[in-house]
Amino acid sequence: MTGTIPPVWLMRQAGRYLPEYREKRKSFSKFFDLVFSPKDASQVTLQPINRFGFDAAILFSDILVIPYALGQEVDFENGVRLGPLPKKKLNDKAVLEKLCPIFETVERTCSALPQTTPLIGFAGAPWTVLCYMLGGTSRDHFAKTRKIVFENSPLAEQWLSILEHITSLYLEKQIQAGARAIQIFDTWACLVPLGEQNKWLIEPVSKIVSHIKKKYPTIPVIFYAKGAHHTKKTFLKSTQTDAISVDSKVDLNKIKKLNMVIQGNLDPKILVAGGKKLFEETEKIIKPLKNSSFIFNLGHGILPETPLENVSSLLMHLRQGHV
Ligand code: CP3
Repeated sequence: MTGTIPPVWLMRQAGRYLPEYREKRKSFSKFFDLVFSPKDASQVTLQPINRFGFDAAILFSDILVIPYALGQEVDFENGVRLGPLPKKKLNDKAVLEKLCPIFETVERTCSALPQTTPLIGFAGAPWTVLCYMLGGTSRDHFAKTRKIVFENSPLAEQWLSILEHITSLYLEKQIQAGARAIQIFDTWACLVPLGEQNKWLIEPVSKIVSHIKKKYPTIPVIFYAKGAHHTKKTFLKSTQTDAISVDSKVDLNKIKKLNMVIQGNLDPKILVAGGKKLFEETEKIIKPLKNSSFIFNLGHGILPETPLENVSSLLMHLRQGHV
């Protein structure tokens, strides 16, 4: 490997592949009890930094804290399941108050992190969070959500705009608490037909980005829109984000022409497999981007079955060019 060493972090790097996470998780019967405990959530955020020395930390939380704060029941115990849509609209202050422990996690984490390791704050994009809120489950690929949305129901539009508004405030608060970059996760972008992308994907994310940029012009925003990039070249440019995080199906030779910071895109299954294939695939990613602004990451979240030694060898390979 030649050229500069790219910074590296992995989506879902604080999670179930780590024995120290599984140990911590045992003391909480509910996932959200851990997420809403600032001392513990901050320790979990730091676990992958302490073990591997990634170049950035990502806040330990979840995109579904927003529906919860809006008053919807969210249950992780037997696969994700959300209750009926909230009947009563809470005011912004009440919603943000419920999210206060998360801002405290950000503060605690930032004061514990080395100055050279930024904390990335995050939220789900309105579309992806809407999918969970309307559908209640992802098991059927959000069949119910898609029915509601593409029948032009005003309900979907109303919730989309509520999400756009509250997500802007939520991310602003994370930045105030110390987050030095933001990632917006649009994991279910692939469900939106091409002709509808403006309304459901581009506009809501653009509004959030301009809200952040007005107040914090130097905070970089990364946009992860799984399954949507290759459909429209201008798609990501038009959201005005600083960087795009691309999934494993994206051809980096094509995407580099966008002339933006690129993050990605190793297939998480390759990291599980390890061995020679891991290094070959890593080289295939690094080579086309040698002269571009680039952050090494996975194309989707790290899988719980990932061997720890494969993560170590990936980092060694990236940083020293050999194992
Ligand atoms: O390390 C990190 O990246 C930070 C933490 C993080 C979690 N979720 C922790 C988590 C982040 C950034 C997320 C984002 C998230 N959550 C997304 C977008 C990114 C992606 O992976 O597509 C989505 C779609 C969710 C929703 C979600 N959260 C689901 C569908 C599930 C259940 C399935 C699963 O992966 O477990 C979760 C639970 C969840 N979020 C766990 C963790 C560590 C596992 C819960 C547990 O430990 O019991």
